[in-house]
Amino acid sequence: MSKPILKVNHLNKDFQVKSKNKLFSKPSSIRVLNNVSFELFEGETLSIVGESGCGKTTLGRCIVRGMDATSGQVIYHPEGEEQVDFLGLRGKEFKKYRKDIQMIFQDPFSSLSPRMSVYDIISEPLLANFKLTKSELDDKVTLIAEKTGLNVSYLKRYPHAFSGGQRQRIAIARSLISEPRLIVCDEAVSALDVSIKAQIINLLKDLQEQLQITYIFISHDLSIVQNISDRVAVMHLGKIVELALVDSLFDHPKHPYTEALLSAVPEPDPNNKKDRIILEGEVPNPANPPSGCHFHPRCMYKTDKCIQQEPELQAIDEYHFAACHYANKLNLRGVTHES
Ligand SMILES: Nc1ncnc2c1ncn2[C@@H]1O[C@H](COP(=O)(O)OP(=O)(O)O)[C@@H](O)[C@H]1O
Ligand code: SF4
Ligand SMILES: [Mg+2]
Repeated sequence: MSKPILKVNHLNKDFQVKSKNKLFSKPSSIRVLNNVSFELFEGETLSIVGESGCGKTTLGRCIVRGMDATSGQVIYHPEGEEQVDFLGLRGKEFKKYRKDIQMIFQDPFSSLSPRMSVYDIISEPLLANFKLTKSELDDKVTLIAEKTGLNVSYLKRYPHAFSGGQRQRIAIARSLISEPRLIVCDEAVSALDVSIKAQIINLLKDLQEQLQITYIFISHDLSIVQNISDRVAVMHLGKIVELALVDSLFDHPKHPYTEALLSAVPEPDPNNKKDRIILEGEVPNPANPPSGCHFHPRCMYKTDKCIQQEPELQAIDEYHFAACHYANKLNLRGVTHES
């Protein structure tokens, strides 16, 4: 493994929510990120997977400071400098490092004015932080447009004129213009057609190779995750329940929740039928999490201990961690490979 670029320590995020029925009730707090800790290594792709609502977007947003975490730390290692407490940075210091960590979303332009041209969209992040002449700016935008496969003649147009794949290229160009070291991609290819999806994934991989970018890749599409990741973290109700190298996680999952998620991945050979594990019962509500192991109401391996005690994320080997009391004992099923 290369050197760490980021260290997330005991990150928690609570949201205050008002009960819909009780007009005068005090807002109650729900814990959406629960003691999330992991290291991220330079140049790797770490994917975050888990059902809708498990906290993936919240985690990404707290890391890039699009949202304030309730507690915990994100330690960032700038190149050739001392590490910094990223969430604690203020003023000039924050301005200096915030450009290093960017985020791309599924719907990249929802927060931007439709009157911005592609040129404006790509160049905007530079205007606030760098004093560049018009020709320096033009050069940078042209270079990034070329790197991301955008025709330079597109730059004067408006994003609504483009297809989903082109729009995602524009979003990638915008995120790259300030030369970040880390990009959080939140379902960035989820809405695209299969062939366009593959093109954008290839672009992200090429850029990673050329520019040594590190990715946190948030996705619910496990086939893409298997293809793009070095490591994978599985989240359940705001907690990381399994973290491992991609092959180790897909071949030998150690958490029953991961086993169930993997059982939904299509087989490479359609003749090779497997049983999908249907998770019975509802996705638990973060406002009222189950006792003990939060997965126990849907776990086919649960015992009394699971109902009473919450399992900690424990090391199975150097790179494989799982939060299950029986992680070392269960013989769980991974995905099968084409022979
Ligand atoms: N602004 C908010 N206020 C209250 N609850 C929120 C807010 N944003 C997200 N949540 C809740 O936090 C949980 C995690 O959401 P999110 O991070 O979007 O999950 P994911 O990206 O994995 O689908 C969900 O239960 C969601 O309803
Ligand atoms: S701790 Fe128990 S309930 Fe939780 S995943 Fe492991 S076996 Fe299932
Ligand atoms: Mg999300």
